[in-house]
Amino acid sequence: MPPILNGKRIILGVSGGIACYKSVMLASRLTQANAQVDVIMTEAATKFVAPVTFQAITQRAVSTDTFESWTDTGRLRSGHITLAHAADLFIVAPATAQTLARLALGMGDELLSLTALSYKGPMLIAPAMETNMWGHPATQQHVETLRSWGVDFVGPASGRLASGEHGAGRMVEPDEIFEHACRVLGRGGPLTGVRVVITAGGTREPIDPVRFMGNHSTGKMGVALARAARDLGAETVLIHAPLSVTPPGGVTLVPIRTAQQMHDAVMEHLPTTDVLIGSAAVADYRPIHSEEKKIKKLPGQQTIILERTPDILKAVGERRHDDPLHPRLVVGFAAETDDLEENALGKLERKNMDMIVLNDVTAPDSGFAVDTNRVIIFERDGNREDWPLMSKEEVAQAILQRVAARLGRQNWARR
Ligand SMILES: Cc1cc2nc3c(=O)[nH]c(=O)nc-3n(C[C@H](O)[C@H](O)[C@H](O)COP(=O)(O)O)c2cc1C
Repeated sequence: MPPILNGKRIILGVSGGIACYKSVMLASRLTQANAQVDVIMTEAATKFVAPVTFQAITQRAVSTDTFESWTDTGRLRSGHITLAHAADLFIVAPATAQTLARLALGMGDELLSLTALSYKGPMLIAPAMETNMWGHPATQQHVETLRSWGVDFVGPASGRLASGEHGAGRMVEPDEIFEHACRVLGRGGPLTGVRVVITAGGTREPIDPVRFMGNHSTGKMGVALARAARDLGAETVLIHAPLSVTPPGGVTLVPIRTAQQMHDAVMEHLPTTDVLIGSAAVADYRPIHSEEKKIKKLPGQQTIILERTPDILKAVGERRHDDPLHPRLVVGFAAETDDLEENALGKLERKNMDMIVLNDVTAPDSGFAVDTNRVIIFERDGNREDWPLMSKEEVAQAILQRVAARLGRQNWARR
């Protein structure tokens, strides 16, 4: 679970649209991530989902009435003030056209918008409505006003709407709102202003139009690194080969397929990269040429001649000799099966990296397609640390904390 949500107080404002049922999933995910979720429902929202559903999921009282007082601080206070002053994040999902209007006009005629008036922190809005309502100049103007105040929006997506029609207006899925909630909360963290570029996944080298040479990488580690960087406030770019896990929200995705494409994308981003983390499983060899037509099944053996692919981290290391600030920090991964330490240290030196994460991929609980990793960290200054078996998320968070420390950001006060 992302530690960024641990102990955070989140107001989840729910207004009256069909997408209310999806917000139950969102409340559940936030609660499971140890956030304290206070749900405020408009009267219209209570027609779609009963407050008791959110109450059971969040284990907290659901507020619907402006004139109900709160006593949980020991003093009798109005609900909107108590909730607004305690919250770290205010999410509105779904946000109806009516609620967007109330928020943009600063109205306080019901509890959700009244609480928003009393609240000063970050706000994330997930609109949901029929296409014409979304495109209406009134709605667009309200969105523009809210954006100009620094409010974040996620969606709406295009697709099938509850009316059966297709178009823009569909609320994005709860998982995507969850990802953006982490991003918004991470803003101002220790990696604020730092651009972190991460490579992930296993590259695919074409043999013919239907076949490729690949490897067992799922991209889990790279995706966990991207989330961890984002949650520390970094501007995060994920250059990724095909993944078997969902890519994270709130980061810039650069999809590629081959080693050459990954090399080109990394080089293109290099002038603006502060930290490069190479966790992709990049093919060392590729077929010398890809057949234009599918190779036919013939009797006897087939030979595919291979050539070397570009060595991305080596190329970056060479560039750094001329321009040491781009990137300021390079972290590599060594997935090894033998002579582990020797291979990792050799790579660290040859490729001019600052840190290498050694991963014994023959260990049953470490490496490809499992959720855990047992890694050893080697740093350029001779420092070595053996980390215990951890989830890939924990390894990723620890690596990014180490990156922040190396950039002198370990005691960063969140702004
Ligand atoms: C079945 C049904 C579905 C609705 N879905 C939406 C919706 O997705 N988005 C929206 O903006 N309004 C929708 N409405 C209209 C709102 O419920 C209505 O504007 C209400 O006044 C919104 O109030 P609220 O913003 O206080 O929740 C729907 C109405 C009905 C009857």
